[in-house]
Amino acid sequence: MPQPLFQKVAFIGLGLIGSSLARVIKQQHLAVEVVASTRSEKTLADAKALGLIDAGYRLASDAVQGADLVVLALPVRATEQALRSIQPYLSEQVILTDVGSTKGNVVAAAHAVFGEQLPAGFVPGHPIAGAEHTGVHAGRVDLFAQHKVILTPLPSSAPWAVDKLTQLWSAAAADVICMDVYKHDEVLAHTSHLPHLLAFNLVEQLANREDNLDIFRYAAGGFRDFSRIAASDPQMWHDIFFANKTAILNAVDGFETQLATLRQLIASEDSHALMGLLGHAKAARQHFNHMLAQKPLMEKTKVTQQFSILPGSHTFNGTFTIPGDKSVSHRSIMFGAIAEGTTHVTGFLEGEDALATLQAFRDMGVSIEGPKNGEVTIHGVGMHGLKAPAGALYMGNSGTSMRLLAGMMSAQQFDSVMTGDASLSKRPMERVAKPLRAMGALIQTTGERGTPPVSISGKAALQGVHYDLPMASAQVKSGILLAGLWAAGETSVTEPEPTRDHTERMLRAFGYEVKTEGNRISLQGGGKLTATQIQVPSDISSAAFFMVGAAISENADVTLQGVGINPTRTGIIEILQQMGADLTVANQRLAGGEPIADIRIRGSRTLKGIHIPEDQVPLAIDEFPALFIAAACAEGETILTGAAELRVKESDRIQVMADGLITMGIECTPTADGIIIQGQGKAGDWSNIFKGGEVESHHDHRIAMSFSMAGLRSSGEITILGTETVATSFPSFTQLANQAGLAIQVSEVD
Ligand code: S3P
Repeated sequence: MPQPLFQKVAFIGLGLIGSSLARVIKQQHLAVEVVASTRSEKTLADAKALGLIDAGYRLASDAVQGADLVVLALPVRATEQALRSIQPYLSEQVILTDVGSTKGNVVAAAHAVFGEQLPAGFVPGHPIAGAEHTGVHAGRVDLFAQHKVILTPLPSSAPWAVDKLTQLWSAAAADVICMDVYKHDEVLAHTSHLPHLLAFNLVEQLANREDNLDIFRYAAGGFRDFSRIAASDPQMWHDIFFANKTAILNAVDGFETQLATLRQLIASEDSHALMGLLGHAKAARQHFNHMLAQKPLMEKTKVTQQFSILPGSHTFNGTFTIPGDKSVSHRSIMFGAIAEGTTHVTGFLEGEDALATLQAFRDMGVSIEGPKNGEVTIHGVGMHGLKAPAGALYMGNSGTSMRLLAGMMSAQQFDSVMTGDASLSKRPMERVAKPLRAMGALIQTTGERGTPPVSISGKAALQGVHYDLPMASAQVKSGILLAGLWAAGETSVTEPEPTRDHTERMLRAFGYEVKTEGNRISLQGGGKLTATQIQVPSDISSAAFFMVGAAISENADVTLQGVGINPTRTGIIEILQQMGADLTVANQRLAGGEPIADIRIRGSRTLKGIHIPEDQVPLAIDEFPALFIAAACAEGETILTGAAELRVKESDRIQVMADGLITMGIECTPTADGIIIQGQGKAGDWSNIFKGGEVESHHDHRIAMSFSMAGLRSSGEITILGTETVATSFPSFTQLANQAGLAIQVSEVD
């Protein structure tokens, strides 16, 4: 058995929180001895009978003697008195913590008792957990599981004490966070104390009306939802409101200001602004819904969903319209926001990545309607109309949002910070920060190794530069060009290889002159964008999964309508054709400045392995995970070189694909800048290629969708872990794939 964390733990107070923690300590043998003091003999007797404590005392001073952990688990108002009574009896190396929901006053109480110098073991804490009932019987061993516990170490707190408390709360399956005392009280004032105060206030307001009987009799769900928390314990809230007075008064002031704005919009019948405000609030609620639901959809540190693809003889047929292009959707919001006038977008991709961009601009004061059935209306604020966001801009999984916005934010007059999920937080940002710095931007990548968060100061005046891109990256190119819109003089870039040119095309559609001379792209700063209509084509990168699915399935016949075939994106078509796929492009037309076409793919020939031409790599950069599945089904070897960029996408796509392919019985060798795949296909033979198995997507949507397609040629079931990211680019993927003939089962996992 491992060494217990503590010799003797003493609880001062043993209500819901204290007794729940005591249950955890007992269940996991985290202490040799657990004792408690409360004024109620009965509580002590019950706690003993429940096996929660080894000894009980009426006096706190008796309980704490010889204890190496003391937990104050009583109402915060009693803190000072409790500390005073135990102070002479505390051992030198004791860890002293509490569980109160305000922290500033606990620290003040400690100073009142201990003076200037607080004990090194003193680390205040706040488990954010509760239950309907209170008391020693209400405690639950799982009360803290998957809940946040905030520790607020002080400058005087010793690291060993913080460390041990972190271990203790982690053993309770809590998510431990360290925060400054002041920050804690401010955050809680807004997220917990203000809502309770408002609930009490609303019920009071209605109860004081003469017609209160009618009001409560006919109260609808809205009132019920809103007022539920006004049924909480008045004594507790009375104490909290006093204990956290300063922060709560600030929150109330903020509320009054906001309410006055809303009142004014209604009084003046300013419909446009009112819609903007309500729309922004609704979008913010949706955006953060996953956090409120305590199910981190976009944090993606946890796997919350998986696909199981059942083996069987699959057909793969049908005519489909694939959702909108991700790159074009991002840019439509960004450019619409800084244009003069109102931009209408159709075919917008309602995936999490593009929605992160949309939310960022709402956070910067842009009024945006929709998206509804792919339609978005953006009320542009002009080149100088963006406002400072109230907090960090959250980019979720989206590298495009962060790198393009890095350029735009560098040119603004306000400071900004951009953060992202677990995958984005590992991706290189110096590649865009470095050229922006050369333009005069004050930009820092504050993560380890040049990764997010990205922090930008608004005091910079940008100067146009020329930059030779060391890598073929449309995101870096775009980040620089976008900063160039505000820079003095000309900004130009030369790319080693042509990359997607949606930025250039769309800037022109917004009336901004952009020159392309060979691989050199340039623009002059100081112009303006004029609102326009944007029709977003279907995303060829999403269509790619269906192209590959059809190319590897016997007798498949799939038509994908209105797919974007911008020549900087058609590497997938070229490569599949070179591999011998039966793929035709018909009905070519223009939609909103971008070429589109209907693509038909039939499963009529066995693909053959090829050495993929390096000039096609940037033109198919997002399609390689799908192409690796095609290569596994081809006859002979496929060799990819010159694709080191794949290692810094949403995951290391070379390694992650190689791992999955090997699991499913495919021989392959990853290299520094590519992969060699031994195709298992034989001409005219459509039997299964993959043996099935469990693969990891590593928070990468395209890995998940690529391995789904392997299900069309698999003898065993394929399980793909971590498929929640599919929603970033292709929310209707499983629905369309199953319509075509696959059998993907989606399950949510805890
Ligand atoms: C994108 C550019 C590419 C691509 C990404 C979208 C864009 O990234 O992989 O999915 O919209 O500009 P890089 O610029 O890193 O190659």
